Amino acid sequence: MKQMIIHGGKPLKGDVWIGGAKNSTVALIPASILSRTPVTLEGVPRIADVDNLMDLLSEMDVKCDFQETTLKINPEDIHMSPLPAGKIKSLRASYYFMGALLGRFGKAVVGFPGGDDIGPRPIDQHIKGFEALGATVKNQNDQIIITAPTEGLKGAVIDLAMPSVGATINIMLAAVTAKGQTIINNAAKEPEIIDLATFLNNMGAVVRGTGTETIRIEGVARLESKAPHTIIPDRIEAGTYIALAATVGNGIRIHNIIEEHLDSYLAKVEEMGVVTKVDEDSLYVYPAGDLKMVQVRTDPYPGFATDLQQPMTPLLLSAKSGEGIISDTIYPKRVGHIPELQKMGADIQAEDNFILIHPTAELKGAHVSAGEIRAGACLMIAGLMAKGETVISNAGNILRGYDRVEEKIKKLGGDISVIDAN
Ligand code: EPU
Repeated sequence: MKQMIIHGGKPLKGDVWIGGAKNSTVALIPASILSRTPVTLEGVPRIADVDNLMDLLSEMDVKCDFQETTLKINPEDIHMSPLPAGKIKSLRASYYFMGALLGRFGKAVVGFPGGDDIGPRPIDQHIKGFEALGATVKNQNDQIIITAPTEGLKGAVIDLAMPSVGATINIMLAAVTAKGQTIINNAAKEPEIIDLATFLNNMGAVVRGTGTETIRIEGVARLESKAPHTIIPDRIEAGTYIALAATVGNGIRIHNIIEEHLDSYLAKVEEMGVVTKVDEDSLYVYPAGDLKMVQVRTDPYPGFATDLQQPMTPLLLSAKSGEGIISDTIYPKRVGHIPELQKMGADIQAEDNFILIHPTAELKGAHVSAGEIRAGACLMIAGLMAKGETVISNAGNILRGYDRVEEKIKKLGGDISVIDAN
């Protein structure tokens, strides 16, 4: 088990570079098996989720070569193989192999997905989409078996009950090689979905309308990668460093951002009184003065991202007065960080589906546990703010999603280390 050890209370200063978006990367890697030729991804974050996806690819004899931030994936010798539980459970996004295998081979046998403990995460909309394309879906021994009819998948109109990121992506992966047109209504609009469409279209797919609520896909017989694809910057990592900079920063410049992807988040941070300045694709966060509490409600993109409610919480705790309220409409039970913050002296409570936050003059170091990626990011920032030593157990969850986080924070002057502990 990994432990993150932080000695807090030191101001951080300098420059930090944001990596490629985790939630794009974890879709692009499974999507690579749709290509008949080798794929090159640039700007790939060094995160544990990527290692786990490469292990899954190697089970199908897909070769990977990962140097610096360039990942080469060669699917030329791929064979269709069941992907049983085990590794599949190590990350939620392994369920993208369902759509990708279905699109490539007309069959997918994939263990039930795992992922963060953030409350119930059904996949009924993914299955509804596969079935609409003509596939049969069976659950057997903790595995999902999806089979296309002998004549292949056929395009369909699919109305999602909610704009699910995962279902939109999985349906896109299956539909790009289906016969005829697929229309996804009430599709998710996240930038990572546009990134995936760019990647697929550059391989010969015909996907239009991503970023709006209606996506139209014309099926094609074959996809071939011809040029490297550069992954968009991780807006959630950027938002996390913005919260860090506004709490313990003494002037931090965050490079490789797309400001528009952060609009809702920056609006809230600025409403609190944090001052930032954008210069092309970087953003400077000035040392914060007295901050005001705000209310936050998470929503699908372009709303305030659920993945940023926890990283922003330490910033709310640092406000001088008032009561902050967070309501997470996507994952109302994403509250695992609260008892851990209470151990650090935070005045924060979960009531019904609201999180209530009061100004906390000082956090103190404590032994806490990172139940999931974003809870871990929240505790890491709290640890950097706190007096004394904070030990975060289950820190592997932070490394699942934050690119070279120890190195980046050390470079800013933070006293942080990640160790192997029993
Ligand atoms: N939902 C259903 N049925 C479905 C699919 C979703 O009821 O078939 C519900 C979910 O329970 C949830 C809502 O719809 O309440 C939205 O879920 P969505 O499918 O959009 O989420 P996801 O695809 O499972 C991705 C990200 C999450 C992020 C959410 C919301 C990846 C790999 N994961 O999850 O990221 O929180 O979208 O934006 O892209 C993270 O990075 O920390 C993380 C958890």
